[in-house]
Amino acid sequence: MGFAALCTNLRPGPFVKLRAPFYETPRMSSDLLQALRAALDARKPLLAELHTQGTDCYRLFHGSQEGAPGLTVDRYGPQLMVQSFHQVLERDSLLALASAVEAFLGEKLLLVYNDRSQGNSRIDRSDPVYQADAAALEDLTGHEWGLNYRVRGRHPGQDPLLFLDLRNARGWVKDNSAGKSVLNLFAYTCGIGLCAAAGGASEVWNLDFAEGNLAVGRENGALNPQLAPMQFIQSDYFPAIRQLAGLPIARRHGQKLPSYPRLQQRQFDLVFLDPPAWAKSAFGTVDLLRDYQSLLKPALLATADGGVLVCNNNLAKVDIEDWREQVLRCASKLGRPVRDCLQLPPAGDFPSSDGRPPLKTLVLQL
Ligand SMILES: C[S@@+](CC[C@H](N)C(=O)[O-])C[C@H]1O[C@@H](n2cnc3c(N)ncnc32)[C@H](O)[C@@H]1O
Repeated sequence: MGFAALCTNLRPGPFVKLRAPFYETPRMSSDLLQALRAALDARKPLLAELHTQGTDCYRLFHGSQEGAPGLTVDRYGPQLMVQSFHQVLERDSLLALASAVEAFLGEKLLLVYNDRSQGNSRIDRSDPVYQADAAALEDLTGHEWGLNYRVRGRHPGQDPLLFLDLRNARGWVKDNSAGKSVLNLFAYTCGIGLCAAAGGASEVWNLDFAEGNLAVGRENGALNPQLAPMQFIQSDYFPAIRQLAGLPIARRHGQKLPSYPRLQQRQFDLVFLDPPAWAKSAFGTVDLLRDYQSLLKPALLATADGGVLVCNNNLAKVDIEDWREQVLRCASKLGRPVRDCLQLPPAGDFPSSDGRPPLKTLVLQL
């Protein structure tokens, strides 16, 4: 049953007399409540494990796979982040959902609801339930693998500041970075870099073209003062990786290129490549469906012999088998054959009924 159908009986009819305060008597479709309860129950062992690991950021309800497509419920430390992607969640359903989660966790959380089904992707209504309490919108701190992360319910970007499905990959990096030089490409808020630093990397570079994202990465660094400082490189991917790989930077259609930071050719022991599905800049196009090779080739060349390249593809319509084959072929054609290839699936808070989660992570031992 779709989210739309689940919500049809959510609106209170004219005969429903509302008591004040309204949030004490939230109503939610029994189907949605049942789906939520099943999702919470299924997570009990995982949540116990995560809490022991020092993690309080996780997905509690993954609607597309758990009975309400277009609805996600995430915990980010003290915050409960509800997001809808197809249609607005009515206030009573929202409040009932939050109460059910709090009862399950035995904790009060600060509710933030971001509706991303509308044009500007951010709800702004007079109703305080939709606006969220001031305390919920303050700068908060969440935890993962024992590290501190900045949590901000609303900010100029669209996504929460930490992608939860990448937790296992971050854990892998933390466990495999000791003494290594690490290059974090498309770094966003630098969670991978932070894990590398926590794992004892000798050096960590975070590269992204968005200064706002790197600024959060710097905050994340400051929230973990025990870690060695990281480097932050604000640059477009293409000129940066091509310089590191010792490749020329071609003009596109004969046009003059914008300026870019100059980097010396060099290799890293561990390179993490996690591009967005699609992005265009003056230097090139990131296109995970049609052209993964343009991203992969220079990243392979910037990885040391005997080093590791971790590459990701989060496009649901790309099959793991096809993509793995493409990646392995590209590496051998480049004379950098893969000696060992390991797949890291997301954890159980991102269930996938067919075993094919959109986020695919390959660890390539070169
Ligand atoms: C999906 S996020 C990557 C997630 C990240 N790896 C993490 O650990 O959470 C995509 C990032 O790529 C950056 N980006 C997109 N196109 C880029 C380009 N051409 N050069 C550099 N960064 C780019 C965006 O600013 C954004 O921070």
